[in-house]
Amino acid sequence: MSDARDGLTPAGPLEVGGVHLATPVMAASGTFGFGTEVPLCDRRALGGMVCKGIFLEPRAGAPPPRIVETPSGMLNAIGLQGPGVETVIREYAPLWATWPFPVLVNLNGETVEEYAELAARLDGVAGVSGLEVNISCPNVERGGMLFGQDPDLAAAVTAAVRVRTRLPVWVKLTPAAGDISAVARACEEAGADALCAVNTFVGMALDVRTGQPRLGFRTGGLSGPAIRPLAVYLAHRVAQAVRIPVIGIGGITRPEDALEFLLAGCRAVQVGTATFVDPNAIGRVVEGLRRRSTPDGAPPGHRLRPA
Ligand SMILES: Cc1cc2nc3c(=O)[nH]c(=O)nc-3n(C[C@H](O)[C@H](O)[C@H](O)COP(=O)(O)O)c2cc1C
Repeated sequence: MSDARDGLTPAGPLEVGGVHLATPVMAASGTFGFGTEVPLCDRRALGGMVCKGIFLEPRAGAPPPRIVETPSGMLNAIGLQGPGVETVIREYAPLWATWPFPVLVNLNGETVEEYAELAARLDGVAGVSGLEVNISCPNVERGGMLFGQDPDLAAAVTAAVRVRTRLPVWVKLTPAAGDISAVARACEEAGADALCAVNTFVGMALDVRTGQPRLGFRTGGLSGPAIRPLAVYLAHRVAQAVRIPVIGIGGITRPEDALEFLLAGCRAVQVGTATFVDPNAIGRVVEGLRRRSTPDGAPPGHRLRPA
């Protein structure tokens, strides 16, 4: 599916952090489920997909309401509802193995050992092309972004996952880190193959009639176009801090938005919230990049050094 004619990957699929992407535009974790419920998306455009975050065991997630619309974005507090690793291995991975784009599993744990155990269980499972280690979820009581705010903890999770798997290990960073460059470097030194920047920003919305939070978890993660300039800045800082590839995430809706991240030094991007507005958002972004690609087929951002 990815050949010279698509204009994006003239020499075959784009290798990013050990994963061979079909195009530079992927589906972001939590916005594409397990890939089985998005019939309106042009799957030929998908560079790859990151599935909804999972733990070792099934989880019920956060109490409703779980989503609030905000100006140019949304707050969510799903709380990592999910089926657990055994269901993923038994039901989803065999499907993914037949798909023409790579699927990464978004890993979550409350302890370092839980992340490591998940990585070990997924090692060698056909259909799983890589791991995205989520040390950045704002919607859980334990673990999540607490690991991503501290360079030592981030390195501990990364190293523990690294030694238990042969799969490519990507680490997803939180904007809540005091010094995201330090966290990025710590993950790189601990063996990460790529970094994803960034997860959602913590936010809150109150109901002015009741005075109560509008989300059941009280706070949530802000995503969508509202966060794009913040995310571009952080992705740029991460790209300047490390040598491994960076995947840019945050508010991408249009081809120009993806280009911004590529110009900021990212090798690929992920699209999340935009899919809720237009199920074929990724198709549109890829088509727009294709039209802007240079004569030798590379998207313009891939030819430039970080700004
Ligand atoms: C409803 C929803 C669920 C999400 N679930 C996850 C998740 O399970 N794991 C994760 O790493 N990120 C999760 N995210 C964060 C996205 O993958 C992405 O990093 C963030 O939304 C910013 O990108 P966007 O503005 O394009 O949505 C979720 C986002 C939304 C909106």
